[in-house]
Amino acid sequence: EKGGYEHFMLKEIHEQPRALKDTMLGRLEEERVVLQEVDLTLDQLAQINKVYIVACGTAWHAGLVGKTLIERWAHLPVEVDIASEFRYRSPLVDEHTLVVVVSQSGETADTLAALREAKNRGARVVAVTNVVGSTVSREAHDVIFTWAGPEIAVASTKAYTTQLEGMVLLGLYLAQVKGTLLSDKIGGIINALKRIPAQVQEILDQESLIKELAKSFVKVEDAFFIGRSLDWAVAMEGSLKLKEISYIHAEAYAAGELKHGTLALITEDTPVIALATQRDVFDKTVSNVKEVKARDAKVIGLTYKGNTSLVKSVDHVIYIPETLDELAPILTVIPLQLLSYYVSVARGCDVDKPRNLAKSVTVE
Ligand code: M6R
Repeated sequence: EKGGYEHFMLKEIHEQPRALKDTMLGRLEEERVVLQEVDLTLDQLAQINKVYIVACGTAWHAGLVGKTLIERWAHLPVEVDIASEFRYRSPLVDEHTLVVVVSQSGETADTLAALREAKNRGARVVAVTNVVGSTVSREAHDVIFTWAGPEIAVASTKAYTTQLEGMVLLGLYLAQVKGTLLSDKIGGIINALKRIPAQVQEILDQESLIKELAKSFVKVEDAFFIGRSLDWAVAMEGSLKLKEISYIHAEAYAAGELKHGTLALITEDTPVIALATQRDVFDKTVSNVKEVKARDAKVIGLTYKGNTSLVKSVDHVIYIPETLDELAPILTVIPLQLLSYYVSVARGCDVDKPRNLAKSVTVE
C-alpha cells in the first residue's frame, strides 16, 4: 500500500507531480480557467468587497499564499484567519464577503464551524477541499476540489501543494470574472502553471542532496525559516513540517522582522533556512541573510536556478527551477518537505504518525 516507499509521507511527496496535474486537468484553456463547481457572476462579484480565507494548520498556510494572489490578481482585499480564531471573534462578515474555506479532509471541526458562521452571516462560501462528499464540500456554495487523492501521513504534503494550485486557480478565476487581468497575462500564468508538475519532478530527482543535508540536522534543537512575501508563507509551512515530524523547535519569521527581537536567538547552533525567490524583495532578503550570517548562523539558501548571487551570502544553496514568483511556493516547499522527512527518519521519529497528532481534527 505504500507503493514501495518506506513511509506514506515519502510516497505522498512523490505523488505531487501527478496530484498537481490531476488538479489542473480540464480547468485550463489557453487564456482562461474553467472552474465547473464555482459559479460567481460578474454581478455577484461586483457586490463583494472583501475576502476571508479561513483554515487550520497547513491549509491556513495555503491561504496565506492565496491572499497575495487574490489581492494581486483580482484586486480584492483579503484577510486570512485561523478557523478557531475566526469563529469566536465576530468577524465582519456579511453578504458582501466572500469566504474561502480550505480543508484537506473537509471535516475539521473549527473550519466547518467557521463555514457555518460565515453562511449564517450571509456570506458566499467557496470551499477548497480534497474529499468529495466531505461535510465542507456539501455545505459550501461553491467547491474547488483538489485531486491529491487520499493523504494518509499526518504531515500534509500533496494536499498543501494542490491547495496552492487551488489558490492559483481561484485567484485567476476571480481576476478573469472581474476583468482585472488581461487574457494574455492569464495565458502566461497558465503556461507557467502547466510546467509546474515537471518542475516538481525535477526537484524530487535531487532528493539525495537533501537527504545528505538532513544529516546536519540530527542534533539540532532550534531552527529558523525566514523569507519575505510568499517566501515567508512557505517558511511557515517548512517550519511546521519540521516541528511536526522531527520534534525540532522551529520558527518562521518574516525576514525583515528578525531584528525586532528574534535575532537575539541566532547563534552558530541555529541553522537558518532562507527562502529567497521573490524577485521584488530579493535584495532585501539577502540583507537579512547577512544579518544572521554575522551572528555565525549556518544558512541554507533557497532560490531559483540561475540566480548566481545568493551563493555568496550563504553556506549552502538549494536551487529550484525558475518560474513566476506567484507559483514559486509550489516548488520551494518540496525541498522543505524532503528535509523534514529525512530529518525525522534520521532522528528515529514516527514519520507518518507523529506523537500527539491526529490526521483529522474533528473536535475543537
Ligand atoms: O483537513 P484539514 O486540511 O482541515 O486539516 C488542517 C490541519 O489539521 C492540517 O493541515 C495539519 O496542520 C497538518 N497535520 C499539517 O501537516
